Amino acid sequence: MLKEIEFKKINKEFYTANNNNQPVQAIRNLSLSIPFGKTIALVGKSGVGKSTLLEMLAGLELPTEGQIKFLLNNGKFKAHSDQKRQTLIKLVTMVFQNYDSSLFPWQSIRETIRFAMSVKGKFCEDRYKQLLELCDLNIEKENCFPHELSGGQKQRLALARAIATKPELLVMDEPCGSVDQLTKEHLNNTFIKIKNANEVGSIFFSTHDITEAVYLADIVLVMKKCEENIVEIKTFYIDRDSDNRFDREAPYITKYVKKIRTELE
Ligand SMILES: Nc1ncnc2c1ncn2[C@@H]1O[C@H](COP(=O)(O)OP(=O)(O)O)[C@@H](O)[C@H]1O
Ligand SMILES: [Mg+2]
Repeated sequence: MLKEIEFKKINKEFYTANNNNQPVQAIRNLSLSIPFGKTIALVGKSGVGKSTLLEMLAGLELPTEGQIKFLLNNGKFKAHSDQKRQTLIKLVTMVFQNYDSSLFPWQSIRETIRFAMSVKGKFCEDRYKQLLELCDLNIEKENCFPHELSGGQKQRLALARAIATKPELLVMDEPCGSVDQLTKEHLNNTFIKIKNANEVGSIFFSTHDITEAVYLADIVLVMKKCEENIVEIKTFYIDRDSDNRFDREAPYITKYVKKIRTELE
């Protein structure tokens, strides 16, 4: 079981031909420790390094310096490395903002989920149906391909694929960034549902929508760059008013949104 995720002095540089042969410093000197089992939202201005951080968490990018450690209850830890990416894919999965480029156009709903389930074990009809239900996907559409689905349905499919293996950590990069407001609200409630059903241990997602961050998260991280590109993270622990859990205009939400907005400006 995971206990904590620890980022220690993480640097990430990208080498590109478009920067006078100088590396782009996407993240500098990031240290952060996150308790396991929570929903964490990451907000920050465009270009601050949110996607880079999430991609490193999911093992799609490795830090140039430093290590992200997944600390276990037994005192040991796991970390992504070139050799171990495949192992950790079972621990961490990811949902991207752009469902059109993240889903395979040649796989139907059924085939997409079957493929994901085969990563960890065998296809199981009951589990498949449970995933459809959890992600509010209609079984009548199971033979539809991504181009036959709406944006919201495509993102639900991406979500079902990501949770098929019951990952300990679900990473989502602006998962509602490409859908309309009502679809976003519906998807938000699906995220709450899968977390409450213990389908995933922790959720770590980024968003531009501060209300969405406060509505969903136990902890909101505000990411900023200060002098010399060094990353600064401000942490907000959301003391949720359980009576108002499904009211986006509840006073506690407005209060946190105001504080976080001030921090972002
Ligand atoms: N693959 C890449 N190659 C070169 N530069 C990159 C790459 N990915 C991100 N960057 C740069 O790293 C910085 C952080 O980008 P990103 O993590 O996408 O920010 P955010 O998600 O907060 O908008 C930006 O300056 C961006 O141009
Ligand atoms: Mg981004």
